[in-house]
Amino acid sequence: MLAIDDDPGLRESFRLILDDEYDVVVAASGHEGLEILRTSQVDLVLLDIRMPDMNGIEVLERIKALDEQVEVILVTAVKTVRIAVAAMKLGAFDYLTKPFEEDELLALVRRALERRSLQREVAYLRSELERRHDFDAIVGQHAEMQKLYRTIGQVARTATTVLIMGESGTGKELIARAIHRQGPRQAKPFVPVNPATLSDGLVESELFGHEKGAFTGAYQRKLGKFELAQGGTLFLDEISSLKPEVQAKLLRVLQEREIERVGGTGAIRIDVRFIAATNTDLKQAVDRGTFREDLFYRLAVVPLSVPPLRERAEDVPLLVEHFIRRYNAEFGRRVEGLSPDAMGALREYRWPGNVRELQNIIERLVGLVDARVIGLNDLPLDLLLPDHRLRIREAESRPLPRAIDEFERQIVLHVLERARWNKSEAARILGVHRNVLKAKLGRWRLKAPRGREG
Ligand SMILES: Nc1ncnc2c1ncn2[C@@H]1O[C@H](COP(=O)(O)OP(=O)(O)OP(=O)(O)O)[C@@H](O)[C@H]1O
Ligand SMILES: [Mg+2]
Repeated sequence: MLAIDDDPGLRESFRLILDDEYDVVVAASGHEGLEILRTSQVDLVLLDIRMPDMNGIEVLERIKALDEQVEVILVTAVKTVRIAVAAMKLGAFDYLTKPFEEDELLALVRRALERRSLQREVAYLRSELERRHDFDAIVGQHAEMQKLYRTIGQVARTATTVLIMGESGTGKELIARAIHRQGPRQAKPFVPVNPATLSDGLVESELFGHEKGAFTGAYQRKLGKFELAQGGTLFLDEISSLKPEVQAKLLRVLQEREIERVGGTGAIRIDVRFIAATNTDLKQAVDRGTFREDLFYRLAVVPLSVPPLRERAEDVPLLVEHFIRRYNAEFGRRVEGLSPDAMGALREYRWPGNVRELQNIIERLVGLVDARVIGLNDLPLDLLLPDHRLRIREAESRPLPRAIDEFERQIVLHVLERARWNKSEAARILGVHRNVLKAKLGRWRLKAPRGREG
C-alpha cells in the first residue's frame, strides 16, 4: 500500500495505523508516488487531494493510466469534498475526510483491498475460461515453454519475420497462430501454406497467384497466398522443402515486399508478416547447400525453438488433462484421468510424434475406453515398449510382488519386441516354455501390436 501526502504528520499517522497489518510505503509528493507505482507492486493508494507539485486528481488519472486495477482512496479536507466526489467518476474507490478516526480508515482500507482481490480473482477466472474455450491454447509450464511465451508476446507486437524450429508435432503452427492472434494483425487473415504438399508446378501459382491464361488450365485470375494474406500473416510451413527457384523468388519478396502474379505484368505491393516453420535443421540444409543462406537469415530474424515433448515430460500430465477435457466435451464422455502407472508410462515415453502423437492417443482413449480412469492396460502397446526401464523409485512404493510382476512384464515386453513378437523365439531367449510365456501374456492381457501377430 502506498500513502501519498505532503504532510509529514499524516504520513506518520498512516504508517502508525496501518503498518501492523499492511506493507506501507509513503511518498511526499505526486511525482515520488508515481515513481514508486512504476517500480513496485501496489494494490492500494491513499492519496491526498491537495499537494503542491500536482493535484490529487491529476495523480489519480496517472495512477489509473499506469494500472487501472490499483484502488485509490482519496484523502480530503472538508473544503475539497466536492472534488473528491467528482473524482469517484475517475475510478477512485472512496474518499476519507480529514480528520478521520482510526477505525474509519481501517474499515475503508479493508474494503478497498477486498475489492482488489476480488477483481484479481475475476480476471484470473476469466482468463482461465477463455483458455478453456480456446482450442488454440498452448499448454505447458516447462521453463523453455515459458521462455517461448515471453518471446511470443514480445514478437507478436512487431512485424518481424519469425522462424519456428521444432520437431514434427511440437506445436509450431499453434505458436505461429498465437503470434498472429496476439498482434495488431489479429483481425486480418492468417494464411498457412505448406509447399511440401503442393506439386512442383503448383507452388508458384499457389504462392504468387496467376493471371487468366498464364498457362494451360489458368481459366481465370487467381490470387496467391501472399495476396490472400494482405494485412495479415503468411505462415510458410516446411520451408526446407522449397525448390531453389522458389527460394530465390521468396527471397525477393522478403526484400522488396512486392510480388508478381504468374503471367502478370506488374508488381503488387504486399503488406504481410511472415512466419516460417521447419522441422529439419535448416542450418544444416544451408551447410549442405540445399537451402540459401541469404534466405535463411532473412527468415530467421527471430528464431524460435520449440522443445520436443520428451524434454519436457513434466508437461505431459498437463497436456493429458487438456486433451481429456477437450475430447470429453467432443465425445460426450466423462473420463476423469489416467491411473498413476499409465501416466508414468506416458511420461517416460519418447514421443517421436510429440504433442500431436499424445493428442491422438488421448483422443483414441477417450473415444474407446469405457471407464472413468484409463489404466496401463488401455494404453497402446508400442507406447509401453521402447526403452521403458522399470523405475526403481516407483517400485519402492509398491508391494514387492507387484513391483516384481511389473518388472517381469517389462522384461518380457522388451524381449518380445526384440524377437518381433515371435513368441517361440522370445520364449527361447527368456529360457521358458512357450506356454509359460503365453500364460503370462494372458494374465497381463498383452497382445501383439496390430500387424505383428505371429
Ligand atoms: N503445447 C501445446 N498445447 C496444446 N496443444 C498442442 C501443443 N503443441 C501442439 N499441440 C497440438 O498438437 C497438434 C500438432 O501441433 P502443430 O500442428 O502446431 O505442430 P507442428 O509443429 O506444426 O507439427 P508438424 O511439424 O508436423 O507440422 C495440434 O493439434 C496442436 O493443437
Ligand atoms: Mg505444422
